Amino acid sequence: PDGRPLTGRTAVVTAGPTFEPIDPVRGLTNRSSGKQGYAVAAALAELGAEVTLISGPVALDAPVGVTRVWVEAATEMKAAVEARLNSDRGTDIAVMSAAVADWRVDGIASGKIKKKPGGPPSLALIENPDILAGVSAPGPRRPKLVVGFAAETSDLETNARAKLSRKGCDWIVGNDVSGEVFGSDGNAVTLFTRNGAEPWPRQSKTEVARKLAHRIADHFKA
Ligand code: C5P
Repeated sequence: PDGRPLTGRTAVVTAGPTFEPIDPVRGLTNRSSGKQGYAVAAALAELGAEVTLISGPVALDAPVGVTRVWVEAATEMKAAVEARLNSDRGTDIAVMSAAVADWRVDGIASGKIKKKPGGPPSLALIENPDILAGVSAPGPRRPKLVVGFAAETSDLETNARAKLSRKGCDWIVGNDVSGEVFGSDGNAVTLFTRNGAEPWPRQSKTEVARKLAHRIADHFKA
């Protein structure tokens, strides 16, 4: 039916921050609220898609009709995404909106690190895998459409285009984060595809999500 053009399509969406443990009680994370990713998951489900939402720690309810998988560290997020991609159904749509931590702690302590007179401990960091680049890599399980996000404080177009080709995804939602974005309900974005750039007026994250879901539906119709 026209109201639910993504019926029969499968989608995976990542959202929220990751939490990279230091020891059993501490960790490194970031200020992503997860709102934009949750809104995308909800909008895809509203159009009929079967949505798996792979979420880092956030304080949001799962959207109606969406299957949520909780994860903490980036390595867990990557494994959860791969499990979804490897399921029998295949994946039509991937939208990677999570704010994945760039680094994790090398050598997570198995017990709580104690305060010692000699001064604070140092943390050794190692790079996290790029989940979006992995999902975008050519192969039989690559989703038909892979969408990434790029939060930039300057040179949005240059940086978003560089990300598009470096990561190998199909579209990038470029997000100008020089204003108010984090934790807020509004968002000013530009959709970069292989052939063009569509600036969208500032609108709520729900509206951005709905617009993106409709663009995705049009892509599959064409
Ligand atoms: O490189 P940068 O973090 O700016 O890229 C942002 C895009 O890449 C987002 O879509 C984000 O979800 C994704 N990403 C990822 N895994 C990472 C880093 C970013 O999936 N380790």
